[in-house]
Amino acid sequence: MAKPRKKADDWWRGAVIYQVYPRSFQDTTGDGMGDLRGITKRLGHIASLGVDAIWLSPFFKSPMADMGYDVSDYCDVDPMFGTLADFDAMLAEAHRLGLKVIIDQVISHTSDQHPWFVESRSSRNNPKADWYVWADPKPDGTAPNNWLSIFGGPGWEWDGVRKQYYMHNFLISQPDLNFHNPDVQEALLKTVRFWLDRGVDGFRLDTVNFYFHDRKLRDNPPHEPDPEAVGLDAPDVNPYGMQTHRYDKTQPENVAFLKRFRALLDEYEGRATVGEVGDGARSLKTVADYTSGGDKLHMCYTFDLLGPDFTADHVRKCVQSFQRAVTDGWVCWAFSNHDVNRHVSRFIRAPEERERIAKLAITLLSTLRGSICLYQGEELGLTEADLAFEDLRDPYGIRFWPAFKGRDGCRTPMPWQHGEAHAGFSTGKPWLPVPQDHARLAVDVQEKIAGSVFNHYRATLAFRREHETLHDGDMSFLHSNHDILAFTREKGGEKLLFVFNLTHEKAEFVPAKSLKLGAPLSVPGFGAKLKDGTIELDGLDMACVRL
Ligand code: BGC
Repeated sequence: MAKPRKKADDWWRGAVIYQVYPRSFQDTTGDGMGDLRGITKRLGHIASLGVDAIWLSPFFKSPMADMGYDVSDYCDVDPMFGTLADFDAMLAEAHRLGLKVIIDQVISHTSDQHPWFVESRSSRNNPKADWYVWADPKPDGTAPNNWLSIFGGPGWEWDGVRKQYYMHNFLISQPDLNFHNPDVQEALLKTVRFWLDRGVDGFRLDTVNFYFHDRKLRDNPPHEPDPEAVGLDAPDVNPYGMQTHRYDKTQPENVAFLKRFRALLDEYEGRATVGEVGDGARSLKTVADYTSGGDKLHMCYTFDLLGPDFTADHVRKCVQSFQRAVTDGWVCWAFSNHDVNRHVSRFIRAPEERERIAKLAITLLSTLRGSICLYQGEELGLTEADLAFEDLRDPYGIRFWPAFKGRDGCRTPMPWQHGEAHAGFSTGKPWLPVPQDHARLAVDVQEKIAGSVFNHYRATLAFRREHETLHDGDMSFLHSNHDILAFTREKGGEKLLFVFNLTHEKAEFVPAKSLKLGAPLSVPGFGAKLKDGTIELDGLDMACVRL
């Protein structure tokens, strides 16, 4: 099968997407929480990195039990973030700066405060009675089956009025919508159209494989915990990882819904989707199912590179498994997002490695085949904040503390100005503290230092932009010592060899004689190291040579 390539309006293929977590980006009102005007104010910072698009985490009306991933009105802005007019202004400014805007659609579940759920739970025969996943108890009063919530405890909650259980994959206050009901699909697609008409360029689809459940509500079988599962699937602290999720998610009916979603998007020009797939060992198959054929999602991301492993073996395994499983789809790679520990902290062995690892990681990410997502603050090389229990706001962390500290450590505010209160994020007390060592890494400090992580990001992303090969060119791994990651990227007349040493010791790579080595290419931050046909690398180093 021919490898997918970029077409004229395929801006998303090979794009660099910068994730903004609005609550922690920039506050303009002094209430300690970021807002849409703050994002508008800082769009110049994002544009200066040379990215193609921003992905905004939810800013919709919400009781904020899961920080906005519990929506109570899909077509309005939460007052905490501003107004629809603020959104329109932000969108216009982003477009003026050449940035596409992707918003986060959280449609697998709503908040329990959403009028749809309020109505649905009011009786068994109201017009929305079947809009959520309701089921009778077992004769002994227990839940209908063994499904679990990712955030702890059973995946069912009892409702005294209906005298039934409703299903929730996350918090009790995040009831799961019943996608088997066509009216639900219709209503959700209407909300998607609302934002398309407003001019957004695409959607990040939260938990896209969770939309449907098994109509027969069959029990999930037990599962051997997967030691590589990370983040939301964390099995060591969470019994959720002890099941194979055969029946509570990733149901075959979803494919037809995703086609409907795509058909709607295709009524508009140049719009794109990126789906979040958390599906353990099945993830790649699910990505293949959802992104193949050009009639469903444009791309997906998985949790593969969001774990603790930063070795050549691991990266090779992830990319090769993807290449084998997904021949006709597209991936969005990321090392960080708002759900996992910041990657610098996951990958370093000692604090002094912070800068080096931050630089090496973005260089590696930029050379992979696929689109890439960056998470706010990684361009400063921020580490995971070490918070006290009293500071926590994430219900997932509060529930599993101290075995799992949750996701607040990667959600602390952006440090903008070193000398200002709360590093220029807010004039009031921020919702999460700004760590001391983050203030020292503020944007205004790093901007002035030629070799800072921030300037390295700018230079590296410029390097990626200049080499179209890196967007959608072929990628093939070369035989190498297992500590070394060696691969080629090729498109049209350009063929580049990349060699990464992710270990801490010096290493050498001797390319096969059949490879005609050309001139070494200087990659920002990493000198050329070609000597008599051998590539010599320091620990945590890389090189690029033209072929
Ligand atoms: C989001 C999380 C959220 C969950 C429930 C996820 O995958 O990224 O932040 O808690 O979905 O909506």
